[in-house]
Amino acid sequence: MTDDPVPIETRLSEPEYYRPPPSFVGQANVTDPTVFDEFDQFPEGFEAYAERLDWDERWDTVFDGSDPPYFRWFTGGRLNAAHNCVDRHLEEYAEKTAFVWEGEPGDCRRLAYQDLYREVNEFAAALRAVGVEEGDVVTLHLPMVPALPISMLACARLGAVHSEVFGGFSAPALADRIADADSRHLITIDGYYRRGEFLQHKRKADDAREQLDDDVDAVLVWTREDDLHPATELTERDVLVGDLLAVHRGDSVDPVPRASTDPLFLMYTSGTTGKPKGAQHGTGGYLSYVTGTTHSLFDIHPTDTYWCFADIGWITGHSYIVYGPLANAASSVLYEGAPDHPHRGRVWEIAEKYGVDIFHTSPTAIRLFMRWGESHLEPYDFDFKHLTSVGEPIQPEVWRWYYDHVGGGDSVVIDTWWQTETGGVVLSNLPALADMKPGYVGRPMPGISAAILDDDGAELEAGSGQAGYLVLDRPWPGMLQTLQGDDERYIEEYWADFSDLDSDDWRDWVYKAGDSAVEAADGYFRVLGRIDDVMNVAGHRLGSMELESVIVEVPDVAEAAVAARDHPEKGQVPDAYVVLREDAEAGAEVREAVREAVATDIGKFARPDHVTVVDSLPYTRSGKIMRRLLGEISNERPLSDTTTLEDPAVPERIREQVSGE
Ligand code: WTA
Repeated sequence: MTDDPVPIETRLSEPEYYRPPPSFVGQANVTDPTVFDEFDQFPEGFEAYAERLDWDERWDTVFDGSDPPYFRWFTGGRLNAAHNCVDRHLEEYAEKTAFVWEGEPGDCRRLAYQDLYREVNEFAAALRAVGVEEGDVVTLHLPMVPALPISMLACARLGAVHSEVFGGFSAPALADRIADADSRHLITIDGYYRRGEFLQHKRKADDAREQLDDDVDAVLVWTREDDLHPATELTERDVLVGDLLAVHRGDSVDPVPRASTDPLFLMYTSGTTGKPKGAQHGTGGYLSYVTGTTHSLFDIHPTDTYWCFADIGWITGHSYIVYGPLANAASSVLYEGAPDHPHRGRVWEIAEKYGVDIFHTSPTAIRLFMRWGESHLEPYDFDFKHLTSVGEPIQPEVWRWYYDHVGGGDSVVIDTWWQTETGGVVLSNLPALADMKPGYVGRPMPGISAAILDDDGAELEAGSGQAGYLVLDRPWPGMLQTLQGDDERYIEEYWADFSDLDSDDWRDWVYKAGDSAVEAADGYFRVLGRIDDVMNVAGHRLGSMELESVIVEVPDVAEAAVAARDHPEKGQVPDAYVVLREDAEAGAEVREAVREAVATDIGKFARPDHVTVVDSLPYTRSGKIMRRLLGEISNERPLSDTTTLEDPAVPERIREQVSGE
């Protein structure tokens, strides 16, 4: 960990606090600061979250830490997630909107809880009919259409484990995830709209299947319109969801009670090796945590309209579009398309149309809105009381713009730090209980214990101005259970650095998040970004090695390294550095081939703009690529220590090659 030479506190402009408006505080769900003391009664404090759910059988043990780091929550308990998100609301909220979906071309669909109940039951019956059973992993490759939450909940109803692969992922990325999870069923859709174009999405499923050694048993194909798109071809494994539903109209399926510790879903995310890892989330702990934090942090009331402008295909959408909001009987907006189609006021138009009062998005989106300018907001009449941000550090000036222009200066603006692995938000200020401070995510959530450690594992004091490793040193119910099929990697990635691996006392186990952070004297955390070889591109997490393993497959490329470059809107973008094979020619062609390989094998969102052909990469004497140095070159920063390099002159030569382009 590099020391921060200038204390971060003095580098920011004046630390500045903003009070939550009294009108907000007066209506907030959580206003009593003793909530922190209650949750510090570990682990019993977390029972308050579990109490918010319906259990078929109540747990007998709140927390079982006897086999660290495989922590188990609410053991002995049984529950069903779909029942908790849908069925139990019918008595009071059958007619209440669960989702209102806006298609990009402007078509819309309202699903009341009663409708959601019907759709989930019918689709669960359909899944069962094609052979899906409790415990099976079902892969979903769906964009932002109602079919996505319906499919997730139908799986949950049957006790099947869903593994949704973000719709923007390409066929090879999808195939990898199907194979890794040993999934026998795939759910897709003919297509969807993005910037006015109908994307032939199902073709990715077809291509993915060709790459699998072991084909799936069935592909279930939803349709974007009533009928299948004329350009969509079906194969003998494909089953049209519409045909299945026609047989199962009006069917209902009893929700299968699951052990609290049974897995609910897998969510693949990027790590420090080339292979994506499937974070496995359990049923009782995860659902309790997201239900509790949705209530306390997003502060949703029955009368609110909430919009999390994110994609369900990532963890944010799982936790804070689907499970948390539905478990709280919220009414949410879903939007299919791009924020600038057909015009740059689209988001605010939708906010006005549905009366959204709680809005959640990412710094990448806010920076985009900021660049487009306030004039795109002005024509619309919307009024937010609560705004949140997630996914990347939000710069103070971006925070202020969000506060002033989106919030109108009278809403709360909450930054939320968490990860796929944490299941729900772990660092953030409860909106009515703390002043806001731009650039700072805030304090740990109730029951969460966070710290910042130096290289030796010693805790850095609040106010020291020094950056260190952000860790969570006490378990929490939302945490992942393990990585799909890879317990060893689970320990290696998260626990190995700061835990006593021989200890069977959970107190000796410390979760390393992979981010660096500083803690101000007031106890507010400021998250600086990843310290491992993982970057955050427009809020999408990408591993350097994941990109590199694709780039070295380009025939002319011998070696590749990828580093993150700071980008004014996307936060970070990948820069590729490649060494060519001897007979290959450096030129625009090979650079384009690299970009295309990434777009084809991972997804367009990951495509590197800058591809630099270099003579050699900076290897250490032990043969590791020092991507940190490449990052410094990409960001035009002075080079840090190069003494461990096999050839310390390499970075300077690369720098010349970059500037010579
Ligand atoms: C980053 C997204 C700064 C961080 C929920 C983390 C953030 C990674 C913030 C997880 C924030 C997320 N401030 N950085 N408020 N929220 N991050 O798994 O680097 O897609 O490790 O989960 O995003 O990304 P993931």
